[in-house]
Amino acid sequence: MRLLPRICKSFAPGLLALALTGAPDSHSAEQLGAAIASAHPLATAAGHEILGRGGNAFDAAVAVAAVLAVVEPYASGLGGGGLWLLHRASDGRQVMVDARETAPASVRPELFVDASGKPVHAATTRGGTAAAIPGAPAALVHVAARYGALPLAATLAPAIRHARDGFQVDERYARSAASRERLLRDDAEASRIFLDGDRAPRAGWRLRQADLAATLEVLAREGSAGFYDGPVGRALVESVNRGGGVWRLADLTTYRVIERAPLRFQYRGASVTTATLPSAGGIALAQCLQMLERFETGDVRTPRDAHLVVEALRRAFRDRAAYLGDPDFVMVPVERLVSRAYATERAATIDPGAATRSEAPEREPGGVGSTSTTHLSVVDAAGNRIAATLTINLVFGSGIVARGTGVLLNNEMDDFTVRAGVSNAFGLRGGAANAIAPGKRPLSSMTPTFVEDAKGVLILGAPGGSRIVSQVALAVLDYVHSPAVDLAAIVSAPRYHHQWWPDRVEVEPGAFSPAWRAALEAKGHRVESAPRRWGNMQAVFKSKQTGIAQAVSDPRGADF
Ligand code: DON
Repeated sequence: MRLLPRICKSFAPGLLALALTGAPDSHSAEQLGAAIASAHPLATAAGHEILGRGGNAFDAAVAVAAVLAVVEPYASGLGGGGLWLLHRASDGRQVMVDARETAPASVRPELFVDASGKPVHAATTRGGTAAAIPGAPAALVHVAARYGALPLAATLAPAIRHARDGFQVDERYARSAASRERLLRDDAEASRIFLDGDRAPRAGWRLRQADLAATLEVLAREGSAGFYDGPVGRALVESVNRGGGVWRLADLTTYRVIERAPLRFQYRGASVTTATLPSAGGIALAQCLQMLERFETGDVRTPRDAHLVVEALRRAFRDRAAYLGDPDFVMVPVERLVSRAYATERAATIDPGAATRSEAPEREPGGVGSTSTTHLSVVDAAGNRIAATLTINLVFGSGIVARGTGVLLNNEMDDFTVRAGVSNAFGLRGGAANAIAPGKRPLSSMTPTFVEDAKGVLILGAPGGSRIVSQVALAVLDYVHSPAVDLAAIVSAPRYHHQWWPDRVEVEPGAFSPAWRAALEAKGHRVESAPRRWGNMQAVFKSKQTGIAQAVSDPRGADF
């Protein structure tokens, strides 16, 4: 297990390529004040290809996202959604493109419970009922049209190439497919495309996705209508409903991305821009950091500071469960929740010497996710930046591929709260604010974030379900608390997590000493090792002093 990312440098004529990579195969690279970090080397390469053709950061991000949809089909794709945080250099405009999936209009809560009213986990995680209306294709079209400089025919070209010609799958693919072999086998199309015969392939096997290449071509040619209407749209509806879903074509044709003002706050002099609702991530980040500002903090890996971070996370996640949901459906007191006054009030309830108890009945904890969902961070030479977290939720989503389209559908319905007091796949609980309703967007944890201070600009995000929030919080704290920037150290530093419920501090295995654990236990925390490390952070930093941009991919990307 490698704790520190490798640093390698290479020089090419007219191009300085300085690669700070987190895994043996380079996922991240920089050129002339531009940098791209993504979870797959083919995706990063596509982004650079587009920058080399005169595209801006937004074009590059579209290319990267589209290639990720092809090469990490277990993590994101046209059948999923995402949140794209943009900063346009020419006028400083900052926007969050909300491409979150929506519940279909005919959805009924009864679809997700048994005769006695008990939630059926499989109904929100497998098959047609699990799939919400995808936002990913609309995001590609929207970001390209409104912010890009190149046509989709150019930015989708690398993805179309990899889908049509195929590529050799890596260990992550092989392990992800093995972990969901049964799910994939249950769907003839998923099995035909993603398995070798009816078994998970080994690394090195060539994955060809001719149908997906054709769907991407239609999207490039016809824009949104090429996906949400016509033969592709009809195939989606037909396949989802054959799998038990209740989609109608109108659910697809009326899908729209929403441009929302991102959340902004200050933390010890740094400006943080992050996701707003329907993600809970940015709100939790704002609450957590502003509570911590009320204390003297330094190294947040010391037991003293870790206790404070855990207590702040506990309070933020409790508010998430109590108040947060799709803002177009429920009134959420966001302004109050992220206000400094509220942070002061909540921080006053933190005892530096003792853990607070989370009051709720105990239930099973959720799993550690990392290969489902993906993140990309890009900055270009002009200073345009983008942080996008993209998801189909759990590994290989709902397992349904719409016939003839190559589109694997998400299982984002599991991000709703089916019943108060019952946890979802990430152990998250919620209430009425996040209840299922027609057309509603499920609450997310995705936290694409920018941090700007005198040192420069940090662009980051990660997969990991509820653990996204603590990963991003720790990275922002590390960045702000340090006078110099060691991006590789920030991304690889050991992680701990708390999410109010279950009431325990989860730590990466082997990352913290027995003395560290004992110090937290002495304050009343239950400390538990997770089965494995989590997250696959993708971070970019551009220095204000030198103008040099660097990218780092999480070394944990090689773990899965
Ligand atoms: O939007 C969310 O919060 C989840 N669908 C994200 C899932 C995730 O990060 C899975 N992890 N690897």
